[in-house]
Amino acid sequence: MTSSYETHEHDVLIIGAGGAGLRAAIEALAQGARVGLVCKSLLGKAHTVMAEGGIAAAMGNVDKADDWRTHFRDTMRGGKFLNNWRMAQLHAQEAPERVRELEHWGALFDRTEDGQILQRAFGGHTFKRLCHVGDRTGLELIRTLQDRGVQQGIDVYMECTITRLIRDGDRIAGAFGYWREQGRFVVFKARSIVIATGGIGKAWKVTSNSWEYTADGMALAYETGAELLDMEFVQFHPTGMVWPPGVQGILVTEAVRGEGGTLKNNRGERFMEKYDPKRMELSTRDVVARAIYTEVREGRGTEHGGAYLNISHKPADYVKKKLPSMYHQFKELADVDITTGPMEVGPTCHYMMGGIRVDAETGQSTVPGLFAAGEAAAGLHGANRLGGNSLSDLVVFGKRAGTAAAEHSSRVQSGALDAEQLEEAEREMLAPFERTDGEFPYEIHRDLQETMHSLVGIFRNEEDLQKALGELEKFKRRLESVRADGSRMFNPGWHLTRDLRSMVLISEAVTRSALARRESRGAHSRIDYPNLDDTWGKQNNIIVKRGDTMALEQRPVADLPDELKEILAENK
Ligand code: FUM
Repeated sequence: MTSSYETHEHDVLIIGAGGAGLRAAIEALAQGARVGLVCKSLLGKAHTVMAEGGIAAAMGNVDKADDWRTHFRDTMRGGKFLNNWRMAQLHAQEAPERVRELEHWGALFDRTEDGQILQRAFGGHTFKRLCHVGDRTGLELIRTLQDRGVQQGIDVYMECTITRLIRDGDRIAGAFGYWREQGRFVVFKARSIVIATGGIGKAWKVTSNSWEYTADGMALAYETGAELLDMEFVQFHPTGMVWPPGVQGILVTEAVRGEGGTLKNNRGERFMEKYDPKRMELSTRDVVARAIYTEVREGRGTEHGGAYLNISHKPADYVKKKLPSMYHQFKELADVDITTGPMEVGPTCHYMMGGIRVDAETGQSTVPGLFAAGEAAAGLHGANRLGGNSLSDLVVFGKRAGTAAAEHSSRVQSGALDAEQLEEAEREMLAPFERTDGEFPYEIHRDLQETMHSLVGIFRNEEDLQKALGELEKFKRRLESVRADGSRMFNPGWHLTRDLRSMVLISEAVTRSALARRESRGAHSRIDYPNLDDTWGKQNNIIVKRGDTMALEQRPVADLPDELKEILAENK
């Protein structure tokens, strides 16, 4: 059957070429696997670059007292203890080695005066812990991994979207997709697949995410039978641009606050004094985002509905050296010179803490042969991620998933590619062209973004969430008749018909989980249940497909070993 499709065969197929996908590919290749790396966009264009301010690793270069235990404790406290403790432990222990490895591969980090990697402060981190390259750390990470991977011989398939995973019985056999330029279908045979496709930011109206982030990997995994974990936890980064409207949501790195930036409302008050007087602007993201949102809602916002973020008290040369991208971003996009005046900022949908449930050691999902790493996977960050922990997550768990995927592919036989599944995948992609009187996808996308923004945003309540579920049902019906015009060549409207299915599906998982969790924890704030609840603090929400139903169940959070409990109990 595959003979009618262009077909490529690999031991390990990686879907997604951000930091996690690249690191997994490098490792699987090093283990001797034949590796294919598929990305929806051009290589190097990944949300990884939006982790601008640094990679968190307890190197102890600036604050000598830092160690993995403190990083572990900060990550668990930041995540309000819903984190997978083993992931948090591995992450804190292995991050420094992964940073040294990046340096060895050519990453040019900023230096201390005695020549070590320089580290800066970030919200929720006890010590100066973020190794950085000005405010372009994610970009440097991608550049380094990309050079390394391409040099080592990874086969890269760019501008290719995977629309379905193919199973043989209960194991993974391959994937079906299409070339975005020509619209031709393509099949990949693989014994292991690693999903590293990032999150779902494009389902919200104001977001730091670019067009690629439409929950593809989470939807593929769910449809293939994998479990999703704690989908209610969506991170709103406190500082995105708010003005002019065309650039709303673009990230303003936390490094501005890490370098001493202050937040003020329209009365000139440093309002973080009210919300977290101890940590102020370097409180965790959930707290700062709620604070800015509250100031604006209560009438103390800026002219364009944000807060003032100011770094102009620092010498201009220092600002330009430490925050070169921010300097240019505001100068070019908003005509604001951040060395002389404040920026206007407000919350922007940035990151998904929830995602595919994976084994901590290997990154394997609940489907044999299907692995996940990076933002698409869940567990490490619990209810709220600390800034900088995403870049370290990508390299720590990307490496682990690459190793395990290669190992898995070396001990299983190839599965058969079932003709019926491939034909079904093709039919599904062609259906929008056969409809003559349906809706085009753009309006549905705009309405979805509006719904998620206004009903499943920073503050939530039962009534809004129920309403959102009702709207999502309507979106599903609208998608049944969504239509595409023209041919399969260079057709973004057609691409969006597919992306929307993933976004609506995963938005439903987010909304169902948010409805179930009747408490406020980390990034999930219920105005009808404003407090932490001990019972909920011991439960993870699991979403899984049962027939045609999206089932939701609660499972106990795994208990920590005593030595880790002791670390958490230390009052530092
Ligand atoms: O603000 C930032 O630079 C973003 C970092 C992150 O999301 O980890």
